[in-house]
Parts: sequence; C-alpha cells; structure tokens
Amino acid sequence: MTEKRPDISSAADTYSPICEITREKFNIEPFTMVIFGGTGDLSRRKLLPTLYHLCIDQNLPDEFAIIGFASSEKSDEEYREFVQEFSEDQFNDACWENFSRHLFYVSGSFEDNSGYKKLSHRLEEIARPNEDGVREIIYYMAVPPRLLPSISEQLSSCKLCKGKFNTRLIVEKPFGRDRASAKDLNRIIADAFDENQIYRIDHYLGKETVQNILFFRFANSIFEPLWNRRYIDHVQITVAESLGVENRARFYEGAGVVRDIVQNHLMQLLALVAMEPPISFEADYIRNEKVKVYQTIRSIDDEYIDRFTVQGQYGKGRFNGKDVPGYREEKDIASDSGTPTFFAGKFHIDNWRWADVPFYLRTGKRMKKRITEISIHFRQPPLRLFSSSCDIREPNILILGVQPHENISLHLGVKYPGVSNQLYPVNMNFDYEEDIQGDVHFAMPYERLLIDCMKGDQTLFASQDGIEAMWSVVDPVIRRWEEKPYKGFPNYAAGSWGPEKAKELLANEGRQWRIY
Ligand code: BG6
Repeated sequence: MTEKRPDISSAADTYSPICEITREKFNIEPFTMVIFGGTGDLSRRKLLPTLYHLCIDQNLPDEFAIIGFASSEKSDEEYREFVQEFSEDQFNDACWENFSRHLFYVSGSFEDNSGYKKLSHRLEEIARPNEDGVREIIYYMAVPPRLLPSISEQLSSCKLCKGKFNTRLIVEKPFGRDRASAKDLNRIIADAFDENQIYRIDHYLGKETVQNILFFRFANSIFEPLWNRRYIDHVQITVAESLGVENRARFYEGAGVVRDIVQNHLMQLLALVAMEPPISFEADYIRNEKVKVYQTIRSIDDEYIDRFTVQGQYGKGRFNGKDVPGYREEKDIASDSGTPTFFAGKFHIDNWRWADVPFYLRTGKRMKKRITEISIHFRQPPLRLFSSSCDIREPNILILGVQPHENISLHLGVKYPGVSNQLYPVNMNFDYEEDIQGDVHFAMPYERLLIDCMKGDQTLFASQDGIEAMWSVVDPVIRRWEEKPYKGFPNYAAGSWGPEKAKELLANEGRQWRIY
C-alpha cells in the first residue's frame, strides 16, 4: 500500500507574491530579570536600551521587573536616572514613565553572600508569583567571565536557582577560555542550573540574516541539490570589522581574535552553512546538527596550523581619511603585545556532503570595511565552450550578506549584447530592506534573543556540547599560537585587508578572497 502524500499541487494556484505576515504577539509570562553587572558596558550599550525598546514596542508583559545588581551603591531612583541616559533613542516621557517604574537596583559584591541575601528579599518583594506560587526569574551575567563561578555558587547557596523560583541563566560568550575550562565552568554552573535553564548567548544568532541562512537553505528547494561537494568549489566566510579594540583592552588582551570571534561567531556561521537539514525546527534538532558539523571538522596539527592559518595584528594606518593608531598604541594595550587581532584559516569538513571542499574563514579588527558575508563559490562549468578570451573568469557565486547590507545575491554570467560572443557578469539580488513589503520591523539581535529566552526557546542559544565542540576546533590554533608567538607583529596596516600571508593562503590554491 502506498502512503498518500499531501497534495501540494494546488498551492501554485493560490500562491500570492505577498504572503500574509502577521506581527507575532509573544505570550510571555510575567518575569523578573536580574542583570549582574547592571551598570557595566554591556548593560549600558545593549541590554538596557534593548529592554526599553521591547517595552515601547509592547512586547513585554504588563508585569515585569528589571533589577540591576552591581557593586556601587545606588538607590532604585538613582539607577533609574542612570538608565535614562542610555534610553535616549526614541525617548519620550510617557514611555520612560512606563518603563522606569519596572527598574530596581541591588548593590552588593558578586563574591560574598550579603548582596545575594538582599537580592533574595527584593525578589520576594518585587517578583510576582504565578498561580502556582512560582516566580519566573532570568539572571543575566553581564559580567567578566571570571565572576561566573562565584555568582552561580552564591545563587545556589542562597537557594535562588530552583524551587519557588523558575529560573533561567543567560551567559555571554566566550564561555571558558578553551575546551577544558568551558567544561569546568559548565560543571560549576550545572551544580546550580540544569542544561534547559542555561542560555549561552551569541548575538550573531540574533541577526536576521544569520537566521535567514536556515530559511534560505531549507525553505527553497532549488539550492539544496547544489549544496554539496559536487557543485561547490569552496566557501568563504568573512567577519571584517572596521573598529579597533575600542575600550575593551583588558578583555581583548587576554582573549585575542580566536576566542573573541572564531570560536563563536565564525563557527556558528560555518555550522549554519554546512549542517544537514534538521528533522524539525526545534532547538535540540538544530543544535545537534550543528554539533555534528564541528565534530566532522578535520583536526589540525601544528604543521597544518603553520601552513594553513594566518595570524595578524594591526599596526597604525589610515581609516576613512584619518590616521588611526596601531593595536599596540591603543589605550591599555602593552607596547609589545603579542595578541592577534586577525585570523585567516582553512578548514575541511570530512563528511559526505563536504569532503574536499575548503572553508576559508577570516576575521580581523581595523580592516578596510565592516562587512560580514558568506560566499559560496560554485565550480566552473565542465567545458570552456566559449572562446577562452571571454570564458567565465568569475564562477557563479552565491553571496549571503549579513552586514552592513543584508542581502542575497547570485553572480551569473550572461551574454553581453552585440554581435560578438562575450560573457558579462551580472547579479541577481535580493535586498532585505528594499524587497520585503509591509510594516517591517528589523529586530536587533538582543531583542530577538531576550524574547526567545523569555519564551523559553533555546534554539538560538548554544548547547554545552556545541560550545565544547567549537573549542575543540580552535583549541589547537590557540595553543600553537601561544606556544610559538609570532615575532613579526604588527603585520597589517589598519584600514587594509589583513596580512599578505592571508592573500597567499588562497592564492597558493589558485583562489582569491572576495574583493569589496
Ligand atoms: C563581539 C566581539 O562578540 O562581536 C567584539 O566581542 C566584536 O570584539 C563584536 O566587535 C562584533 O559584533 P557585530 O555585531 O558588530 O559584528
């Protein structure tokens, strides 16, 4: 007996170019968010403005509370004044009035329990219990990673993790400094929180175009047959930043580019491009497919690292017509710093889909332009049919632009009009801002991720398996680079595309980085 398959043939008749998009209303339970590091840089720049916007856009429930927790002494009122400064964008009195009454403050040391006792009292006072007498609490760790163990231990010993509290914990990247420390950290946190309570945030996964990679791949049938070693020559992923280290010297000196970007943002982009279709669009299925990608990345030894990875550090240069300092001249950076600010490298994914298809990854600070892009470079046609002078020089390339232009573009060759046979490169382009109709709201990454956490959806957050697998990919590079520090820094000028060696990495294989 053959199974009856759903009839989708009539879908073509009813297809309308603009499908109805409804603005989703989120069903979020009343909650209280405690921000550890509530006066710090991340809170000021991202979290508090995002929460303010969510409130203005009426995406938060009527009953919610935000408690800033930090060491400086402040009253609730003083904290509200402090937060107001960072909510200037779209500020208006009525919205502020509405938002500010949800703000509270607890001062205390992160490392001893008196602050947590105060917090416990305030939670009893402020957080509203649901019908079952349970309070929904989200703890946001907007603090340096070294403080996570003590905060987690204190929360646990003050009984603020389970029982009468239904809690979630949001942890910023980098989670650990390598695989071993990520495991240790997880062990400590796991004493207090279960895996389904832990939300390891990577703001790249909150970007519309990053989420769109899965939609593009799995909602369209035309590319999937081509998405493999048979048709794809190689893949490039670039995360280029035009800014320097800014005011994060202390963190960056101890981290460097691999911990800051490669282990998380680049690995996430790579997995979204390379993963197999999940059996359904649910957190565990998607996260498991990503882990499989990391597990199949070919392990690399010192010899490979020396040949196929490139490290760089920016020296002084020019950006936007202005002289800009080198990394070693930046505030609070050692004048002989050996911290890399640039990475380029080649990875192989040893599975049936991707065997022998190189993935070239690069990222750097103070590069010529801010651009994040994935490009899929297809193989050349099997025969050069047209005369060699006008043959396709540029193969077909599919570009997934993440920022600043959120677009998808396909490079093709067409006949140049006229009597001669000449190929001409053209683009088929889809632009997120121009081509999507209706009242579009581009959610900022933190908006989307905070809402998901409030809803209890872990899809866009990394699992512990995923974190460990990503560290396993990059740990050998970090170890090699730290054991054998590069002597030639700085080796690229601010405002350039990185060290010459990065060009050579591809040139040696008859390829080149995309030029912008
Ligand atoms: C952060 C890194 O995760 O991402 C920063 O710590 C980097 O060093 C930033 O500047 C880049 O994010 P975006 O969204 O500007 O590409």
